[in-house]
Amino acid sequence: MKRIAVFTSGGDAPGMNACIRAVVRGAVYHGIEVFGVRRGYSGMINGDIFQMSSYSVSNIVQRGGTILKSARSKEFMTPEGRAKAFEQLQKFGIEGLVAIGGNGTFTGATIFYDEYGIPTVGAPGTIDNDLYGTDYTIGYDTAVNTALEAIDKIRDTADSHDRIFLIEVMGRDSGYIAIQSGIAGGAELVMVPEVLTPISEVVETLKAGWSRQKSSSIVVIAEGEEAGIASEIAEKIRQQVELNIDMRVTTLGHIQRGGIPTAYDRILASRLGLGALEGLMNGEKNVMAGVVNNELVYTPFRDTIRLPKPINEDLLRMVKILSV
Ligand code: F6P
Repeated sequence: MKRIAVFTSGGDAPGMNACIRAVVRGAVYHGIEVFGVRRGYSGMINGDIFQMSSYSVSNIVQRGGTILKSARSKEFMTPEGRAKAFEQLQKFGIEGLVAIGGNGTFTGATIFYDEYGIPTVGAPGTIDNDLYGTDYTIGYDTAVNTALEAIDKIRDTADSHDRIFLIEVMGRDSGYIAIQSGIAGGAELVMVPEVLTPISEVVETLKAGWSRQKSSSIVVIAEGEEAGIASEIAEKIRQQVELNIDMRVTTLGHIQRGGIPTAYDRILASRLGLGALEGLMNGEKNVMAGVVNNELVYTPFRDTIRLPKPINEDLLRMVKILSV
C-alpha cells in the first residue's frame, strides 16, 4: 500500500487530533503517502482531499476537536454518493482508509468496501464509549472528566442551597458517561438506559436522603434514559411526591464534546491511530483497532456495530451503597 487517506466522521471527540497525528506520522515513518479528507464522507464525495506531511500535524496532540473537521453525511448513504466518493479516491490514487469515528462511520465503510473494495481500518472516536471491541473509545475519558468538573461545581451550589439537582449527560443510548461521572461525583443515583430505574425508586432515594438531612442530592441521568430526558424525569418526580426541597435540572450538552484531551485520551488515540495504520498496512480491512485489557486488538466492524457493550451493573449497586 503506497497511498492512504485519513478522516474523522460523526460526532467529534477530544483526542481525535492525537489520533490523526499518529496516523500521519506513522505513515511518514513507514514511507507511505498520506492524505487528509475534510468533513468525513461529505469531503470524500466533494473531493476535499489534500496531501499531509509530518508538519501538517504539528502542535495538535493537545487540541480538542478535529483539524480534519467532521460531518454526518446523508449523501454517502446513497449509492450515488458512494460512487462519487470512489471516483474522488481514484483520482487521488488512494488505496486504503483510516476512519476515525463510531458506528455510523464503520457501517458506511463496510458498505463502501462491499461495493468498491477500498479497505478501511477504523479507530474508535466517540465520547459515548459505546463500541464493542475496545475497553475505551477516544474522547470518553475527557468527556467523563468534563462532566465531573461540572458535577463538582453543581454540588457546591446544590449544597449551599440544600437542593436536588438532576444532571443530564450525553452518551446517546449508552450509560457509560453517566455511570463513571456519577460515581466520581458522588451522585446519590445514576440513571442509565441499560437498566430500568422506576421513578418510585428515584423518589425513595431522594426521600431517604432528606430523612438523613442530606444537604444536597445529585441524580446523574444519561440522555438515552428510558424514563425520558432530565426535565421530563423532574416532572414525573413532582407528580409522585410533593417536594419540600428545591429541585433544579441541568443539561450539560456539547460542553462534553470539547476541550483539551486528557493524557489518557491522547495516549489511547496515539496507540489506536498507529494501530489502525499498521493494521491497514498489514492487510487488515473492515476492522476497528481497539485496546482490550491493554492489548491492541482488531475487531470486525460487523461486531463493533452489532454486539452490545454492556455496562458493569455492579457499579450501579455501588452507587446505591456509597450514597447511604
Ligand atoms: O455521539 C456523540 C454524541 O455527542 C452523543 O452523545 C449525542 O447523543 C450526539 O452525539 C449529539 O449529536 P449532535 O452533535 O449531532 O447533536
